[in-house]
Amino acid sequence: MNPIIAMEYSDDRLRLVDQRRLPGAYETFECRTWRDCVFAIKDMVVRGAPAIGAAAAYGAALAALEYSALGAPEFGPAMRAALGELRRARPTAVNLMWAVDRMAAALDASLGLGPGRAAYERLKAEADAVLADETDRSERIAEYGAALVPDGAVILTHCNTGSLAVPGPGTALGIIKAAHRAGKGVSVYADETRPRLQGARLTAWELDREGVPVTLIADSVAATLMRDGKISLVVVGADRIAANGDAANKIGTFMLSALAERYGVPFYVAAPVSTIDFGCPSGDAIAIEERSPDEVTTIEGVRVAPAGVRVYNPAFDVTPAGNITAIVTERGVLRPPYGPAIAALRPGAGEGTP
Ligand code: MRU
Repeated sequence: MNPIIAMEYSDDRLRLVDQRRLPGAYETFECRTWRDCVFAIKDMVVRGAPAIGAAAAYGAALAALEYSALGAPEFGPAMRAALGELRRARPTAVNLMWAVDRMAAALDASLGLGPGRAAYERLKAEADAVLADETDRSERIAEYGAALVPDGAVILTHCNTGSLAVPGPGTALGIIKAAHRAGKGVSVYADETRPRLQGARLTAWELDREGVPVTLIADSVAATLMRDGKISLVVVGADRIAANGDAANKIGTFMLSALAERYGVPFYVAAPVSTIDFGCPSGDAIAIEERSPDEVTTIEGVRVAPAGVRVYNPAFDVTPAGNITAIVTERGVLRPPYGPAIAALRPGAGEGTP
């Protein structure tokens, strides 16, 4: 089975698999400008923490291309405005800020080159490096994580964390795919993940495509499965991990972690170090995105709730560190207490495996 390449940059444009259309259609969405990238991130053409970071990095490169004809005094401010909008496209996944900050540093380093094609080439190379880094990270996460999966495990996962959400095999789904390929005979329950249905539309499609046995469930089924001893472990991704190990992920993850705690099911979070916000002390400080009420009141454009009903639609929630059995990163498997384990990964803290 060919791997999914959800993002490709060539001929001065970014091509994304349009995740709004799957599984019904496999279409490409082309970003020709940095504003197209902002739109693609906001509208969830591209989604998943590492993927939106990489898309924003290419957005920065496209901005340098668009502004390459400006004079030096205008180029810097125009670029900073574009980087600011890319950074603000979605508020929770810190990979987005991490990638844009990395592009801002590359921009600073390239200012001596002046506008024109040279700065663009420099930023494009940096975006390629972001994509390559995230690919490499997710490959290593898959390897570390697969070692935690027992033979015959029945795995519960939430949202979509595979090759659509992450360059490379994915985080939680990367682990599941690696365990499957290692012949461990795993099977998966995939939460549908209301309201955007990433589990139904994307995870079920991606696992099926890989030949991993998958059963789709409504989100509310998880409690019954865990109570009945049907789940060997839960593995999910993350959008931002605080310095104390609290982890923001797709809405509903916290509920799963509380159930796992209640029924003694191991609960793993898989994420690259680019998802760790070292400056964020705890989950209380993580900005949680609230999205349009339409996501809850309509399904595929069909209204399923009374017009004008009040809606609360947070896109993410925070799982407390105390509910997490281990955090799988590309630098190894972190165990509680997470504070010191995470501090050891901080840039400049040394490269030793935690
Ligand atoms: O709103 P989304 O679909 O971008 O949310 C994605 C998630 O919550 C994923 O679980 C998370 O980004 C981890 S993907 C490796």
